Amino acid sequence: MTDWHEIYRLAREWTLEAGEQIKFLMTKEIIVEEKTHKKDLVTNIDRAIEKFLAEKIQHRYPSHLILGEETYGHQISELDGIIWMIDPIDGTMNFIHEKRDFAISIGIYEDGLGKIGLIYDVMANELFHCMQGEGLFLNDLQFPRLQPALLAESLVALNSAWFHDNPFVDKKFMNQFAKDIRGARTIGSAAIQLAYVATGKFDAYLSMKLCPWDIAAGIVMLNEVGGVITTFNGETCNLLITGSVFAAKPTFHEQFYRNYSIRT
Ligand code: IPD
Ligand code: CA
Ligand code: CA
Repeated sequence: MTDWHEIYRLAREWTLEAGEQIKFLMTKEIIVEEKTHKKDLVTNIDRAIEKFLAEKIQHRYPSHLILGEETYGHQISELDGIIWMIDPIDGTMNFIHEKRDFAISIGIYEDGLGKIGLIYDVMANELFHCMQGEGLFLNDLQFPRLQPALLAESLVALNSAWFHDNPFVDKKFMNQFAKDIRGARTIGSAAIQLAYVATGKFDAYLSMKLCPWDIAAGIVMLNEVGGVITTFNGETCNLLITGSVFAAKPTFHEQFYRNYSIRT
C-alpha cells in the first residue's frame, strides 16, 4: 500500500533542501552550456539538483521512476507505475541572468494520474504544493477553488515567442488579444506561471511548447482547484511528449474560443 502522505512529506522536505542547495551553489561558479539552441540553457547547478533529488528518491523508493529534464532519470515510454517528473530549475535563463524567478518543479503521478504537485519559487521562499484531494497551499496558506474570470478583465501569461512569426497565430490575433485582455505578463518560468494560474494571480497562461517536466506539477495543482489545462486544441496534455499548453480559470477557454482561433 503506497503511503502518499509520507511521499508528500518527503517530497516537500527534499524540495526545500534542494532550494537551500541552489542558494548555496549559486554563490560559487555557475557554468552555463547551450543544449539544443542558444536559448536552451543548462548549468552545472541544474544537473547537481536533479542528481540530488534523483538520489533521494531512488534510495527511499527504488521502484519509483524518474522523468527528469537533465540526465538523471529513466527512459519513460509509458505512464505506468509511480513517476516523479522533475524540472530541477525551471526558468534557467532567469537563474543565470536575474538570480530569481526560477523554481523547482515536481509532479508525482501514479499510472498517469496526478497525485502530488510541488513548485518551489526558491528566492521568494514560496512553496506551492498539493496532494490530490487535500487542497492547494502556498507555504501554509490554503487556496480556494478557482472562480470564472472575464477575458476582458484578465491578466494572461505569455512569452516572447508569441511576438515572433509562428505557426499558431498571426500578428492580427496578437494585436486583438493584447487589446482585449487587461494585461499580459511574462515571468519566464512555466512552472511559476502555472502556480500563479492555480492560485488565481493570473487568469490564464498560453505556451506553444512545453515539456512534461514543465507542466507535471502545475497540472496537479490546477486539477485540485478546478482550473482547466489542455493543449491548444482542447485535448488533455500528454505527459510523454512536448506540446502546446493552455491553462486557465474555469470558463476562460470557452470565452477564448468564441473570439479567436488558434492553430494546433
Ligand atoms: C523553460 C521555462 C520557460 C518556458 C520554456 C521552458 P527551463 O524551462 O519554463 O518559461 O517558456 O519553454 O523550456 O529550460 O528554464 O527549464
Ligand atoms: Ca522547464
Ligand atoms: Ca529546467
